[in-house]
Amino acid sequence: MIISARSKADTFLLFAAGLLLIAVTGFLFVSEEVRDWNDHQEVFGNLVAERFGEEAAEAVSPGIRQIWVEEIDVVDRCTTCHMGITWKGFEEEENPYKTHPDMPLLRSHPVEQYGCTVCHGGQGYALEEQAAHGYVKHWEEPMLSKAIAGEYLIKSNSALIEMNCNVCHRYERETAGMTFINHGKELVRTKACKACHIINGSGGTIGPDLTDEGEKHAEGLDFSNLTGFKSAFNWHVSHFKNPIAVVPNSIMPDMNLSTYDAQALTILSMSWKRSEYPVAYIPDFQQEEERTPEEIAEEKRLLEGDGAFFIEKGCFVCHSISSWGIISPSEKGPDLADAEQDVRTRFGKTLEEFIFKPTGTMEIILSSQIILSDEEKWEVVNKLREAYRLKQAQRAEQQIQRPVE
Ligand code: HEC
Ligand code: HEC
Ligand code: HEC
Ligand code: HEC
Ligand code: HEC
Repeated sequence: MIISARSKADTFLLFAAGLLLIAVTGFLFVSEEVRDWNDHQEVFGNLVAERFGEEAAEAVSPGIRQIWVEEIDVVDRCTTCHMGITWKGFEEEENPYKTHPDMPLLRSHPVEQYGCTVCHGGQGYALEEQAAHGYVKHWEEPMLSKAIAGEYLIKSNSALIEMNCNVCHRYERETAGMTFINHGKELVRTKACKACHIINGSGGTIGPDLTDEGEKHAEGLDFSNLTGFKSAFNWHVSHFKNPIAVVPNSIMPDMNLSTYDAQALTILSMSWKRSEYPVAYIPDFQQEEERTPEEIAEEKRLLEGDGAFFIEKGCFVCHSISSWGIISPSEKGPDLADAEQDVRTRFGKTLEEFIFKPTGTMEIILSSQIILSDEEKWEVVNKLREAYRLKQAQRAEQQIQRPVE
């Protein structure tokens, strides 16, 4: 069942929807203008008459409209009110009479095959506005509306909708119209998330597997260290900005992410749901992440190559090792490719002395956070010497290649 595949996961929005429900009901109470679908159809009929003549208006048959797509379990009656969706000429009207924006998008996802809720969320079969938009208590998948985007301080009306787009477009590298998701995917490539997490089928195991991260309910998250709005969305944004503030003792690094970065990664993480859409609904039947051969080799090198020890032990959380191409997501400490030399100048010690009897930050880290056996300490020393030799060789080679000016 598609509905069950996507439902519940968006409980995070419930809280927002609750607030909104109160606000909207209050507003409607004051304005006393709640139209039901009959009224909307009448208004729409008049609009058609005005613009295209009585004959055209009469051809618009009244009554409940429904888009039923069995394969994806969609029963959407949104068009009962939103009658103008596929019409030309109502671009400037108000909702629900308005023509759908971005018509190329609806051409590649025809409403007869997709309905509305696959992208928008909401309660497809409901005929009352609040219920249809999902702002009702028992419904756990409210429409990803402008109002909710506003609640989350997102500067885009369609950003939350991208969460649903990516259930189908998950394995694409980049998809037109998915600004936040595209940015999030780019960050996953550049911030070494896969050194610690399995994402789309590959990666490391230091952190949890993120394959079904979007299925996680707000109830499944620990909010005890979070101030403010207790929703999964806010949990993720806060966690991305400062992991240990939300999960004490987490070794997930603070990656100096902006609010936009954190929102993009949140929307991406929450889009990672189990999809039970038939293959015809997956672009190009793609079941695997799009990656270049270089990226696959790079990931393998990171997780299994010469520097794998430093990934596994978590050193790379703070240190890059540039000669092996290891880039730290936080770069809190110096590049270890030069440690052999640098430790002498900075600490007046050999590398061996420093690792066995560290001072400063590393004294704390190696006595509390990362405990190494003597054997492992030797491994650090030997490997870092190797990394330094390689770095020197790389420098020499660069010098030779540099053109004479
Ligand atoms: C009973 C009539 C009715 C039904 C049924 C209905 N809508 Fe609406 N919809 C409205 C009205 C009226 C507005 C304009 C009020 C507003 O903007 O809040 C609106 C506005 C919207 C908007 C723009 C506002 C925003 O926050 O983004 C979207 C998107 C939308 N509806 C989608 C849907 C979807 C999807 C469905 C089916 C699940 C649906 N509607 C079913 C009446 C309806
Ligand atoms: C392929 C995904 C997709 C499908 C299917 C889809 N929409 Fe949308 N819809 C969007 C996106 C994305 C936006 C925001 C576009 C923008 O703001 O440029 C949007 C915007 C809207 C708006 C807001 C218009 C406005 O500017 O206020 C309404 C109303 C709406 N859709 C209703 C529907 C209805 C009703 C259906 C089903 C008949 C539907 N949509 C099907 C993706 C979709
Ligand atoms: C239920 C699955 C599903 C959802 C949800 C969905 N898409 Fe698609 N989309 C597809 C499929 C399948 C195609 C390929 C259509 C074809 O070429 O026949 C496609 C095609 C496209 C294309 C045309 C280029 C391409 O990649 O083939 C774009 C752009 C696109 N989708 C963007 C979006 C955006 C933006 C959203 C959300 C607002 C969205 N899609 C939601 C399944 C989906
Ligand atoms: C050094 C390893 C490391 C790196 C790099 C890392 N993480 Fe994590 N991540 C963890 C660990 C450990 C946890 C579990 C503790 C926690 O929640 O902070 C975690 C937790 C998470 C969670 C929450 C999982 C849950 O449901 O509790 C998400 C989502 C996440 N990481 C995404 C990312 C993304 C996206 C990136 C890259 C931008 C990233 N991580 C980079 C180690 C890492
Ligand atoms: C939480 C961050 C963090 C982690 C994790 C970490 N380090 Fe460090 N490390 C630092 C900082 C910061 C410095 C800079 C020294 C200082 O300011 O005291 C440093 C310095 C060093 C130095 C000296 C480098 C130089 O150029 O002077 C070495 C060697 C070193 N660390 C090795 C390691 C190894 C090996 C691991 C994993 C077992 C590791 N570090 C894990 C933060 C970290």
